Amino acid sequence: MRRQAILIAALLPLLLTACGEPEDTRPGQPVAQRRAAFTKILKSFEPMGIQLKKNRYDADQFLLHAKTLSELKEGPWQHFGPDTNYPPTHATGKVWSDPEQFEAARQRFFKAADELVLAAGTRKEAAVRTAYETLHESCRNCHKTFKD
Ligand code: HEC
Repeated sequence: MRRQAILIAALLPLLLTACGEPEDTRPGQPVAQRRAAFTKILKSFEPMGIQLKKNRYDADQFLLHAKTLSELKEGPWQHFGPDTNYPPTHATGKVWSDPEQFEAARQRFFKAADELVLAAGTRKEAAVRTAYETLHESCRNCHKTFKD
């Protein structure tokens, strides 16, 4: 048992970097912070998608997730500072070379997130489905140009 525990402790750092990505060692870790902020958004986004896909729409739960996502929507952006295009980022250079398009994609996302909360408030599944798809499209729209 003890040996096994030691082995696991020794392997852990290897496992954590197994995806082959360099660690974000910059002060304040802006890349790691924005990625963590997107992961949080995903964690409220995904369960809504699962409900809809499995035809298990639960209006109360859905509304909670939609509200949480809306509260998290400001999270990533402050970490896209001018000198923060470095590994392990998956952002494309366009974030910095085309700030206007990035801003437009961001605003589209904000609007879609707000509209999902409104739709979820009506508790009407058809409206919720449409609003969810619009939000999903806003993620895809930005990722297409600004994420590898
Ligand atoms: C305005 C642009 C934009 C919008 C809108 C956007 N993203 Fe992203 N997303 C990015 C960029 C850029 C990255 C890459 C960040 C990096 O690696 O530095 C990213 C990364 C991610 C990641 C990867 C995090 C990681 O660990 O590397 C996830 C997950 C993600 N986004 C989910 C979403 C979801 C879900 C939505 C919609 C609900 C969304 N994003 C909307 C630009 C956007």
